[in-house]
Amino acid sequence: MSDDDEICLCFHVSRRKVENFVRVEKPRRAGQIAECFGAGTGCGWCRPFLQRIFDEAAQTGAVQADLPTPEEYARLREQYIRRGRSKDAERGE
Ligand code: FES
Repeated sequence: MSDDDEICLCFHVSRRKVENFVRVEKPRRAGQIAECFGAGTGCGWCRPFLQRIFDEAAQTGAVQADLPTPEEYARLREQYIRRGRSKDAERGE
């Protein structure tokens, strides 16, 4: 995943925007990354990746997290959403 690829697919937030937000705003918790154009506040798929960026920046001061290719990332998110919907169906929602 390059810097210009979207890390939050729900809100079209690029990896670069998130990394810059973490570097400049220095959030205390990963959840505060939501202040960066709503990243992580949709389906929830990207939250572990946002956490990784946050953790790495907090530990090393730099972010070099190795993330999946954009195609793989989108495919895995699709599976994640389908699994969530099937769980909703199991619960009768
Ligand atoms: S991909 Fe970020 S909340 Fe859905």
